Amino acid sequence: MPITYDEQHRIFTLNTRNSTYQFMIDSDGNLLHLYYGRKSDGFMKNFLHEQPRAFSGVFGYSQDSQASQDESHSLDYLPQEFPVQGTGDFRSPLLIVRDEFGTFGCKLRYDSHEIRSGKYALNGLPAVYENSGDNASTLEIILRNDRLNLSVKILYGVLPELDIITRSAIVKNSGHGKFTLEKLQSACLDFTHGNFDVINFQGRHAMERQFERRELLHGSLVIDSRRGMSSHQSNPFVILADHNATENFGRCWSMMFVYSGGFKAEISRDQYDQTRFQMGLEDEKFSYTLEPNEEITAPEVIMTFSSSGFEKISHNMHDCIRKNICRGFWRDKARPVILNSWEAFYFDISGEKLLEMARYAKKLGVDMLVIDDGWFINRNDELHALGDWTPDEKKLGMNLESLVKKINAIGLDVGLWLEPEMVSENSNLYREHPDWAFVIPNENPTKSRHQLVLDLSNRDVRKYILDSIFAILASTNVKYIKWDYNRSISEVYSHAAKNQGKVLYEYILGLYEILGKINAKYPEILIEGCSGGGGRFDAGMLQYTPQIWCSDNTDAIDRLYIQYGTSFAYPASVTAAHVSTCPNHQNGRITPLSTRGIVAMTGAFGYELDPAKLSEHEQLEIQAQISRYKSLREIITDGLYYRLSNPSENFCAWEYVSRDKREFLLNVVIPQNHGNMPRIYVTPRGLEPGKFYRNTSTGEIYASDALMDSGFALPVLRHDFESCAYLFEIV
Ligand code: GLA
Repeated sequence: MPITYDEQHRIFTLNTRNSTYQFMIDSDGNLLHLYYGRKSDGFMKNFLHEQPRAFSGVFGYSQDSQASQDESHSLDYLPQEFPVQGTGDFRSPLLIVRDEFGTFGCKLRYDSHEIRSGKYALNGLPAVYENSGDNASTLEIILRNDRLNLSVKILYGVLPELDIITRSAIVKNSGHGKFTLEKLQSACLDFTHGNFDVINFQGRHAMERQFERRELLHGSLVIDSRRGMSSHQSNPFVILADHNATENFGRCWSMMFVYSGGFKAEISRDQYDQTRFQMGLEDEKFSYTLEPNEEITAPEVIMTFSSSGFEKISHNMHDCIRKNICRGFWRDKARPVILNSWEAFYFDISGEKLLEMARYAKKLGVDMLVIDDGWFINRNDELHALGDWTPDEKKLGMNLESLVKKINAIGLDVGLWLEPEMVSENSNLYREHPDWAFVIPNENPTKSRHQLVLDLSNRDVRKYILDSIFAILASTNVKYIKWDYNRSISEVYSHAAKNQGKVLYEYILGLYEILGKINAKYPEILIEGCSGGGGRFDAGMLQYTPQIWCSDNTDAIDRLYIQYGTSFAYPASVTAAHVSTCPNHQNGRITPLSTRGIVAMTGAFGYELDPAKLSEHEQLEIQAQISRYKSLREIITDGLYYRLSNPSENFCAWEYVSRDKREFLLNVVIPQNHGNMPRIYVTPRGLEPGKFYRNTSTGEIYASDALMDSGFALPVLRHDFESCAYLFEIV
């Protein structure tokens, strides 16, 4: 059993294939964390050091309990599982509670537990699910506070084969009064010693998920989003690593939040050089009053541990997201090669242009034409019409249904852009229902891209969105939806809500309810998540949208950095990447078409250009790219991914190895060339030892061990942005 409980020592042990996680119940009912690290037998209780310390308080649940006498047993420094405010622990808590009179504090005490086979699910929230053979188990622990009649159910999910442990918590009011949660987070890892670096993925629109690494010093480092969305600015994925950890050396722990709204990760080093790593809901606009019998679920955090560097963290997370977060019809299916109209025409689309585009696309080998923004009435710019999802027959030259039929007749499937969570002030929807948008009464709202956010915590709004989408899907043969979301949420006011501090959380539950209903009614429709590119690139969205537009930045060189950062947590199969035209529309850079192809073949592949403007030669090259992608698609989307260099070095190299190790694909791009460059050697990893591999382009044969030791000499690349890609096969 991956989860065991030792009655005598009151110790819980959670085991995965390569890791062990352990904690105990102390004599007074507090949960003390003992260990999360490489797989190990035994009890780690001796690792706890207790000594009396000045200014460190103690308490016991009864005056004469051992804990209340023992000056050396203070939660000020003991490592904990579920730290709460008001216990003498002055580090950052997972839970802050205020009672009806405004008093802070809530001591929690162990009440009971249950170990069962199978992975728990969460009501209304996405979560890791198990597949047969995963051998998953759940540990549920109930903690109680008698004064408030408050209980916390802490949930642990253990997926041993995947080396994954998940956490969540459900807080319930079982009394007659009420109280308010001012903070609720999902997971905490305490370390009694160690020198760590924090690795996080920061960015901005069109430059998401940039790798950042820094040493953790005293104080708190907060990685968060207060934007009501997981955000371009920070990703809800953080790694804590040994100071000397590398791709394939050193201990690392990661947390990923399975949630698409605001989040907060905090990593702090305390007075005794101990480290706390925690993650959960953003608390700035959170103030959640629980009425009698009400409860709230903290979204899930996925944790994994590696004793051999970041690579193993990535492999664990990739597998978990691919098979245990993504789900449904498209999870294991080859994704269509897409041609999207946005960078080709922006708002200036027409039926004729789209039909011409479809004819070209068919010749090139594209599978699906995506009609991006601009297809509905009054949508000729960013100022109008979001919320009014009526096709513009004048612009399209016919009704949408007929246009889709004509494109289908050319031999392509059709996808459609939608931004259902938004409303333009200048729209019929807003004129009819001004109270459906987040606008504080008697105040001018903050607009962004000229638009407002609809109040998805309101059931009438959710119904309107679903009715509008279902009407389109019922009449039109749409096979894909690009689900966009183009602003952050700033002010929050719901006309329908009794408690404004609950609205942001309920907005996200509303979003999941809508997406879940579309998935259920139209399981074969592929939804691609998007938020001005990758502003909501998170595991929550991935449960409903098995691929996400990685960034609005389609420049191949900037994408090296964006995709490098993205790859730490997210697999290629969920990362949508397209080839666009040059000079690039976001940064003006001119790169070879071959390099654009190699870089975009890092995931769900497609194009974002007007094929009518391509030369004959470019059309042939694109045809060849698409057939190459289709032949490599499996190794790219299902293979093991290795980062062979950081793009800020002389070269950017990455590799995919097929699961059976019979093939590997090596990709290299030179972001910047220099005079008289040293020869570049790229050292692959993950090959079958003691074998030989043939480079399928040159026929040359290499011994796998020597290749993994000395590296592969690249041909001489003479220009900025040049690239090469080689497929090797086992001999
Ligand atoms: C966002 C998306 C783009 C495009 C536009 C349309 O910016 O990221 O790809 O769909 O919206 O308005």
